[in-house]
Amino acid sequence: MTKLTGGRRFGWVVAGVLVAASASAALAATAAQNAVSARQENFKHLGGAFKTINDELKGGSPDMAKIGAAAAQMDQLAAKVPTWFPKGSGVESGAKTRALPEVWSDAAGFAAAERNLQTEAAKLDKVASSGDLAALRAQVKATGGTCKSCHDKYRAPEK
Ligand code: HEC
Repeated sequence: MTKLTGGRRFGWVVAGVLVAASASAALAATAAQNAVSARQENFKHLGGAFKTINDELKGGSPDMAKIGAAAAQMDQLAAKVPTWFPKGSGVESGAKTRALPEVWSDAAGFAAAERNLQTEAAKLDKVASSGDLAALRAQVKATGGTCKSCHDKYRAPEK
């Protein structure tokens, strides 16, 4: 009889531990999904600013003030990219993300890809205020190349 009660008590303790464990796993999953959502939102802004520049350059009389503002925004966002990929915010968290596991398993390569973007976005910001359209077009191309090379290696294709 005492044994049975003891067993039951043990059972409740185990159940309690399991509930606590799954609650903290759910919390971690929410944190990961929040990180992914913030990251995707930030990339949308980066992409939006880049589109503004490309759209202006397509037209006959590009608005240099608009281009300058967008280039400055890109430069600022590029500097922050390294903070957008906290460990545990990959697909293993269950979050809906296109970031490949290589972002974390090849951290050195990914950091280099981040630096390439930062270097070219900083140049873009400088060239945008120079008024030299030929140089600006060339720098837009160089910057776009850093987006593509990172996406090719570290982003899963759209499903
Ligand atoms: C260092 C790597 C890297 C660089 C550089 C990079 N990206 Fe990305 N980008 C990613 C990854 C990884 C994702 C997937 C994020 C996710 O789904 O969690 C992504 C996602 C995006 C998205 C989709 C966001 C969404 O709505 O889900 C856009 C748009 C985007 N990037 C634009 C750009 C542009 C424009 C540039 C260059 C100016 C750029 N990226 C440079 C790695 C990079």
